Amino acid sequence: MSLRLEWIEHLSPAYALAVALRRDILRKPLGLGFTQAQLSSESESLHLACWDDEVLVGTLLLTPHENGVIQMRQVAVDDRRQGAGIGRLLVVESEREAMRRGFIRMMLHARDTAIAFYEKAGYTRIGEAFLEVGIWHQEMVKNIPG
Ligand SMILES: CC(C)(COP(=O)(O)OP(=O)(O)OC[C@H]1O[C@@H](n2cnc3c(N)ncnc32)[C@H](O)[C@@H]1OP(=O)(O)O)[C@@H](O)C(=O)NCCC(=O)NCCS
Repeated sequence: MSLRLEWIEHLSPAYALAVALRRDILRKPLGLGFTQAQLSSESESLHLACWDDEVLVGTLLLTPHENGVIQMRQVAVDDRRQGAGIGRLLVVESEREAMRRGFIRMMLHARDTAIAFYEKAGYTRIGEAFLEVGIWHQEMVKNIPG
């Protein structure tokens, strides 16, 4: 296994692979896809890919907000490769890049099944659970550096 992290361009060939992985891992199980409008709106986000040689094994995106806050979204690891540290690599690199760009707080909406993953990465829950795309989510935050 030779893992490599790369910040990729919106609408690049690598981005198309990342969208396909997000679709498979996050959307298809819910009977959902992405609209063109949703993908177009991601032009202002930062897109991170994790490669094993030439195979995309994980991805996420970061969406800047105001007041030094940036949101981690759509964290997806190939289901054959989960539990092997790829998700943690993606999160750590995201925090490093967000800090480098001057952001002071990472926030996210965690699926209830992923809350423990983010807690292990130092995130804390804020407020009440809420429904998003039909499943329970929890807002979580971490000051960076944490
Ligand atoms: C959640 C997800 C991103 C985690 O990535 P991963 O590569 O599987 O996680 P890692 O191997 O880096 O795990 C890091 C730590 O978190 C733990 N962990 C990972 N997923 C977990 C989960 N769902 N629940 C509890 N703990 C979890 C691991 O056991 C590991 O713990 P350790 O440090 O004690 O060994 C990945 O499993 C995934 O894509 N799941 C499906 C999509 C999803 O739910 N995405 C998040 C949407 S908010």
